[in-house]
Amino acid sequence: MRRMYHRGQVEWPSMSDRKERIEAFYRFLWPFLAADKSEYAYLDEAPGGRPASEFLGEIPARRGIGAGSRLVDVGCGKGKQLVELGKRLGCDLIGVDPLEQNLELAAERVWKESLQQRVTLRKGSIEKLPLEDASVDFVWCLDMFNHVEDIEGAIAECARVLKPGGSMMNCSAVGSDLLEPREARRVTDRLGINLDTLSQERMAAAFQAVGLRIVEYGTTTDEGSPFLEVFDDDMARHALRFGKMRRSRSRMTARLGQEAFDILSAYDEWNIFLLLGKTTYGVWVLERVRSHSQQEEEAGSPPGSRPPPPGT
Ligand SMILES: C[S@@+](CC[C@H](N)C(=O)[O-])C[C@H]1O[C@@H](n2cnc3c(N)ncnc32)[C@H](O)[C@@H]1O
Repeated sequence: MRRMYHRGQVEWPSMSDRKERIEAFYRFLWPFLAADKSEYAYLDEAPGGRPASEFLGEIPARRGIGAGSRLVDVGCGKGKQLVELGKRLGCDLIGVDPLEQNLELAAERVWKESLQQRVTLRKGSIEKLPLEDASVDFVWCLDMFNHVEDIEGAIAECARVLKPGGSMMNCSAVGSDLLEPREARRVTDRLGINLDTLSQERMAAAFQAVGLRIVEYGTTTDEGSPFLEVFDDDMARHALRFGKMRRSRSRMTARLGQEAFDILSAYDEWNIFLLLGKTTYGVWVLERVRSHSQQEEEAGSPPGSRPPPPGT
């Protein structure tokens, strides 16, 4: 039985345990460093997966979206996905973003792709979508939800604009147990990210509370996830730049200015979190459940004339 010393929450190994660990460490390390690299080539193998644009782009079609459907891209930014979805699905699209500068760039892209007949751009935010109740078939939220202040209110708003039976996709960052609260706060503050949105449990509860059933959930980094994203070696660039910037802080600050230095450091660190498994991206595919009376109406019988379906 191993003895452990407790200092606060942390378990410290005893002297004899530490000696065993040091021995185990070098027993592994020296032969590992001395071995021919080819013996360990498998350590550099790519973990698999697909580009996110590919597997996320398939979701609306899988949920029945096509010509004649209406999709809203909430937080559409510069309109990259909006245009790609428009070309892929042939549906009508609404791009919503709170920033005028983003909408202008999105408009340019829409014109360039000659999609202006099917794409409308509107200034607005997820907390108050510029859309009628039950007016869209699909709500698309990609990499925007971490900026949301009122989690439950925003999700309720998405449910409001969805037609009964309509679907939603949300892809946003969630934290793992490796993420320390202090480092998380430092980085998220600077990037305008609401720390609470990193709670997978809180997000899931908020979806379910407004009648958005979770049809699929997976992360972009977990082995075996249907949404496993291909590993991009370019992510390491964030780590290298972060390290270089910290070593020549005064030179870099003089060139960039303090604010830009702080933003870029936080942005690099945010991406390093993903590399280290402190965060991942959660992908939720959701369906707005039809109420019992809506199901009756669709079936053509007057409300209340049939018993409720099991499980409602
Ligand atoms: C990281 S960008 C993602 C843009 C785009 N969805 C993409 O994946 O390329 C985040 C976007 O969310 C928008 N945004 C921030 N807060 C928002 C809010 N409360 N409601 C809607 N969009 C918001 C920003 O203006 C920005 O365009």
